[in-house]
Amino acid sequence: MEIPSTSVGNSEQIVILDAGAQYAKVIDRRVREQAVHSIILPLDTPASQIIESGYKAIIISGGPESVNSNSSPKYDPLIFSTGLPILGICYGMQLLNKVHGGTVVQKSVREDGVFDVQVNNTSPLFTGLGEEESTLLTHGDSIDRIAEGFRCIGRSTSGVVAAIDSVEKNMFGVQFHPEVDLTINGWKIFDNFLFRIAHLRGDYTMDSRKEMALAAIRKQVGDASVLTLVSGGVDSTVCTALLREALPHDRIFALHVDSGFMRKNESKSVQTALENIGVELTVTNSWDTFRNGQAMIGEEMSETLGVTVDPEVKRKIIGDTFMNICDIEVVKFGLDPTTCFLAQGTLRPDLIESASHLVSGSGNADCIKTHHNDTQLVRALRSQGRIIEPLQDYHKDEVRKLGIDLGLPEFLVWRQPFPGPGLAIRILCANHPYLPDDAPVVAKELSSVVSSFSYENESHIKNIVTTLIPCRSVGVQGDARSYKSLCALSWKGIEGCPINWPLMLQVAKEIPKRVHEINRVIFVFGEALENDLFQTITPTHLEQSVIDTLRSADAIVNEILLKANLSQKLSQVPVILFPADFGVAGKRGIALRPFITRDFMTGLPAEPGKDVDLGILHEIVRRILNEVPGIARVSYDLTSKPPATTEWE
Ligand code: XMP
Repeated sequence: MEIPSTSVGNSEQIVILDAGAQYAKVIDRRVREQAVHSIILPLDTPASQIIESGYKAIIISGGPESVNSNSSPKYDPLIFSTGLPILGICYGMQLLNKVHGGTVVQKSVREDGVFDVQVNNTSPLFTGLGEEESTLLTHGDSIDRIAEGFRCIGRSTSGVVAAIDSVEKNMFGVQFHPEVDLTINGWKIFDNFLFRIAHLRGDYTMDSRKEMALAAIRKQVGDASVLTLVSGGVDSTVCTALLREALPHDRIFALHVDSGFMRKNESKSVQTALENIGVELTVTNSWDTFRNGQAMIGEEMSETLGVTVDPEVKRKIIGDTFMNICDIEVVKFGLDPTTCFLAQGTLRPDLIESASHLVSGSGNADCIKTHHNDTQLVRALRSQGRIIEPLQDYHKDEVRKLGIDLGLPEFLVWRQPFPGPGLAIRILCANHPYLPDDAPVVAKELSSVVSSFSYENESHIKNIVTTLIPCRSVGVQGDARSYKSLCALSWKGIEGCPINWPLMLQVAKEIPKRVHEINRVIFVFGEALENDLFQTITPTHLEQSVIDTLRSADAIVNEILLKANLSQKLSQVPVILFPADFGVAGKRGIALRPFITRDFMTGLPAEPGKDVDLGILHEIVRRILNEVPGIARVSYDLTSKPPATTEWE
């Protein structure tokens, strides 16, 4: 399936052949970031098509299959004789090796996570890199015999072939993922491939694309009217600003749905900000509709949102309710639903994500996806060509540049992403405590991970307490979604020893690797916890008072971060309310999740003391405990993605 692209123009293009990877869209992004135009096509695209279309280089992505499996994706062997430079990533490297006569086998070790790889930086692919690079590996199969004519240019610490090249054939392969943030110098590898190896010009620039987007809007809309949904996030705001540059203003109708899950004063400030750039925004007050919203789950109607605890059901109800409200508002605007257009700020990764969802059947995309981009109204309009997505060729950072170009104020353009379902997915709901089977055994395993942890300063290890928390959150590993228990760390501060944050982060990384019932680790501020296991929670649902509690905590965090000028440095800071009572009946926990990522496919927790000032953190904790009633403890999410996700549900 082809992922469309609207702006071909005269720029040079490369092709990404998709072997079913989660990460194809991230490869696409990395390439486009370097001002090279890319297109994603299926792996079995005929070589003749690649030649005819004039693509200048080929990247073969990773994929979940084994190259040795009968069900491995088909490919045209002639792609290896086109003479074009080829970069194979993960599955792509193994295919390159196999096709040229090497072997690939399933070894006893699987490598999943961040590993150091020794690289030969005399290879043109690795020019400018160090001798050892930190990379993300996720593979079960490995190269056994390297194909003739190729050489090993990288090895992981466990001895696995991590990269190969044949300078003569102009073919290169890496076992790791250079496209994700966790591979620190991955961008440099793309830079080498695109410019040193494929000698591209890098001529895919913003200016040409903005003009193309404006022309495409005018052509598609003609003299019809457009409804635009404005959440206040950067994408929908830039989309609206672009429409205003393309069309007469009286044909643009802007709607903001206040679901009741917005941040404090959010809807009001979105309205004011949009008014300031000349957009008259209609705001609905829809909390009651959402609270009483239901959705069909399979054959059955769900409970109402106000009493639902399942994260996926919550998302489904919110998505459906959004669209029902839009249907009503279209009529109120006096628009003709059979002729009007709907504009959305869909970005290129969104589009690829939903398309690759169809192609590869990956179940992962839908758990992070907002549903209000894809409902009945949207689908009906799409099939009639009445959805406008002028940002469909843009990535987040490019949208920000475009926003500045269009004269939007910096604070709007630099807003952190906020999920469509809002605070609703930052409140973990539960009727009962959740503990894994054999919880006492799991709790013992947690403490033994810490006591056996090797660290130069053993006395610091003795300060760490582990506690199994009776709540679970969503995580992601490989292609799979997980829904697992939370582990808390706390600190005894023996003889006044200050918290060792780097050590905390290392321990947090180790725990989910060793204890498979855990996908997220938090640090709990304050006195060390006394139990290795809690058994009780405060039942939690999406009720007004609960939402207000999170809204107040979230407002404190944002006020302080804004003052400290940290909003740009931290990619996103979700604040979460969860039902753990920490032994104090009726109370709940708050978690802070300062998170650093560019692609949101992978990412790291911000390190306290390095990325976030400790004084600021302590001020946040103190103010939440003093000003927000009903909070037992404030905590800090120490988990990277994977194994956790950015949001907790
Ligand atoms: P996760 O939690 O999967 O999130 O690591 C990755 C990014 O997506 C955002 N997110 C959403 N955005 N609607 C949205 O518009 C949603 O339903 C949704 N769920 C997650 C999340 O905040 C992060 O930026």
